[in-house]
Parts: sequence; structure tokens; C-alpha cells
Amino acid sequence: MNFALLDPDSPLPRSWWLEQAPSVERVELEIGAGSCGFLLEAARRNPSTLYAGFEIRSGLVKAFETTGNRPPNALLYGLDGRWVTSCMLAPESIDIFHVYFPDPWWKKRHHKRRLFTGDFCRGVSRSLNVGGELRLVTDVRIMYESALDGLLEAGLKQRPGGSRSAIPGGKAGEPYCSAYEAKYRRQGRELHEAVFISAGAG
Ligand SMILES: C[S@@+](CC[C@H](N)C(=O)[O-])C[C@H]1O[C@@H](n2cnc3c(N)ncnc32)[C@H](O)[C@@H]1O
Repeated sequence: MNFALLDPDSPLPRSWWLEQAPSVERVELEIGAGSCGFLLEAARRNPSTLYAGFEIRSGLVKAFETTGNRPPNALLYGLDGRWVTSCMLAPESIDIFHVYFPDPWWKKRHHKRRLFTGDFCRGVSRSLNVGGELRLVTDVRIMYESALDGLLEAGLKQRPGGSRSAIPGGKAGEPYCSAYEAKYRRQGRELHEAVFISAGAG
């Protein structure tokens, strides 16, 4: 654990992230990285980008820590990504947020745990660089709609057409995506996909 991440009086500047791995020039965060299928593959393919994930399930964090041949630009923190985004990120410090299959928390008493709160959306908007993006894929319509409401309200714009330009696929050949996305695409499940862009209004 890096304890700088736990001090809300000192929001983390971009330079702090760039010190966390050798020779990185860009900073991308994944909230709810799960088994880190996307995070690890993205880091392997893009060695000049730091991929920092947040994951609240400690078993998944332990599994990540014991993964062999982890690229040095892939990091996973056992922290609540909603809290980190709301409280810990300096303005205009992040290039891309990835959010793939956020937990729907179906039970009414658990709705307060859902990701796209006003604080989270304002944190995303504030901390993205101008032209930065939040990329979302979900199979749950209500999660898509709450992201849409919250992120537009926080000042982001939705990219027309909706889909990601750089993934899955990229320049390096075979498509890559998160474990849930791979599974649901195989099953032919309907997915909702959106890219939100910062115009610097956060
Ligand atoms: C449905 S899984 C998707 C995992 C991965 N993104 C994928 O697509 O394969 C959602 C993950 O988000 C994690 N999670 C839920 N709320 C979180 C939060 N506030 N901060 C960090 N992780 C969270 C869960 O523990 C779970 O591993």
C-alpha cells in the first residue's frame, strides 16, 4: 500500500503518478478492476502508460500481487475507487478512467454503494485532463443511465457514436478487454458502451 493515497489533505498531482513506474508519460485509472484482465493486458501493450487499478475485494488484490510477470506499469490498490476519485486526485491529473461492469448493487439498501454518485462524477470531471475520457461498458441499463446523468451533470460530454476508439483492438493486433466484457460478448449479451470527454469544465 502506498500511504500517500490515504491522505485527503494532499490530492495527488500528475507528477506523483508518473513517479510510480519507470518511463511512463500517461496516467489511466481503472475503477473496479476485478481480475485485472484489462489492466494487465493494457499495461503490456502500452509500456509508456501507467495503469493504476482500484479494487475493494482483498482476494483479488492478493491474486494480482502473486501474478507472475506483472508489467511494472500495472498497479492495483486495495482501495475504494469512488473515494479516491472523489477526494484524492488533483485537478487535470488523469488521462483516462476505465469503468467496466460496475457492480449494480441491486438491493435497495445497497444502492448507496453504486459508483456514479455526484461526488464521484465531479471527481472524474475535475481530475481529467482537457480531452481526457471516461470509458464505460456495462450490461446494466440502469448503471449506464446513472453514469450518463451524473457525468453530463458534472460537465463531461458524451462522444457521439458511443464506442471506444482505441479498444478493444488497438494497433497491436488481437482485441483485448476486461474479463466480464469477454465473457458477456461470448454470450451475446446486450452491452451499453459510452465514452465521456472532458472539455475542461470540471
Ligand atoms: C462486476 S466486477 C467487474 C470487474 C472488471 N472490471 C471486469 O469487467 O472484468 C466489479 C468489480 O468492481 C469492484 N468494486 C465495486 N465497487 C468498487 C469500488 N468502489 N472501488 C473499487 N472496486 C470496486 C468489485 O469488487 C468487483 O471486483
